[in-house]
Amino acid sequence: MLTREIGHTGIFVNAIGLGCMGLSEFYGPATDKTDAIKLLHTAIEGGVNHFDTAEMYGMGANERLLGEAFEGKRDKVVIATKWGPTRDLETGAFTGVDGSEANMRRAVENSLKFLRTDHIDLYYMHRMDQTRPIEETVGAMAKLVEEGKIRAIGLSEASAETLRRANAVHPIAALQSEYSIFSRDIEDGPLKALEDIGGSLVAYSPLGRGMLTGRYSRENKPGEMDFRSGAYSPRWAEGAFEANLALVDEITAIAAAHKVNAAQIALAWVLGRGENILTIPGTTKAANLAVNLGAAEVTLSADDIARLDTLADKVQGLRYAEAQMASINA
Ligand code: ATR
Repeated sequence: MLTREIGHTGIFVNAIGLGCMGLSEFYGPATDKTDAIKLLHTAIEGGVNHFDTAEMYGMGANERLLGEAFEGKRDKVVIATKWGPTRDLETGAFTGVDGSEANMRRAVENSLKFLRTDHIDLYYMHRMDQTRPIEETVGAMAKLVEEGKIRAIGLSEASAETLRRANAVHPIAALQSEYSIFSRDIEDGPLKALEDIGGSLVAYSPLGRGMLTGRYSRENKPGEMDFRSGAYSPRWAEGAFEANLALVDEITAIAAAHKVNAAQIALAWVLGRGENILTIPGTTKAANLAVNLGAAEVTLSADDIARLDTLADKVQGLRYAEAQMASINA
């Protein structure tokens, strides 16, 4: 098991954690609750102790699921959750980001209740509230640390400048941002800032939302009820998708040479980028979870890395639709 510390918090976790979002929303219908709880228990038994959720995933449903699954097992898990984005509870539509203390207090009490715990290990601001200085939001979050409701503070998709300003108010233990063979835009700014402030990167979508695993093809795309088939995912749009699949062939070729799975190559690449990098691939299936955990045993050669390093520049399509890109690197 490859273990790494989250920032300088003294909280050590398996470097390959579990992103839980897909169990409740965004990648097709929610997983049946019994199956989802079984998967979470399998993950704990397999050595996973870092579980990532958010208030907005299923509007509380994902946190409730984890709360039920972790009943009686709280000492075995490090729980990370996030707050900030607001949604219309009737339609699910996103209505903005509210980084006010009042919204934080509402959110944290809900999360604690849903997660059935008295503390959150790592609490992230999920997207930046660009109407408000980050100092105000992180200052409010620091009160939660003092009150013992959260152990550490993180930011998600924050810029280098935001990270530095936030860290001047309270240590920022982690940045959670998308990072993968295909998505390397954080390298120039946020990743360098993290090194300076001693924070960890928690890399989400390390598998490119599944694309890097080689499981998708022209004939086999994500279904209709899926975030990746909508206007939100330019890399999966017609044209870009086919071009990007050709790049995935390079990953599957390297995987074949190692006699491993492409997902393992993608995760080994991420973890090889720095000692302060953790990752949280998402899966709803025990078999895929086992594959992903096996990535800790995969070592890439300099030649493999050189080949993989050429791909990001050739990827077609932004990470998100134009409107959502405004809240990235913010
Ligand atoms: P996110 O962080 O958004 O969850 P990700 O970790 O890059 O994104 O990728 C998640 C997707 O990869 C999920 O659709 C997951 O599908 P399953 O729930 O069917 O597993 C898929 N995925 C994860 N691990 C996989 C693996 N080892 N092989 C194939 N697909 C995998």
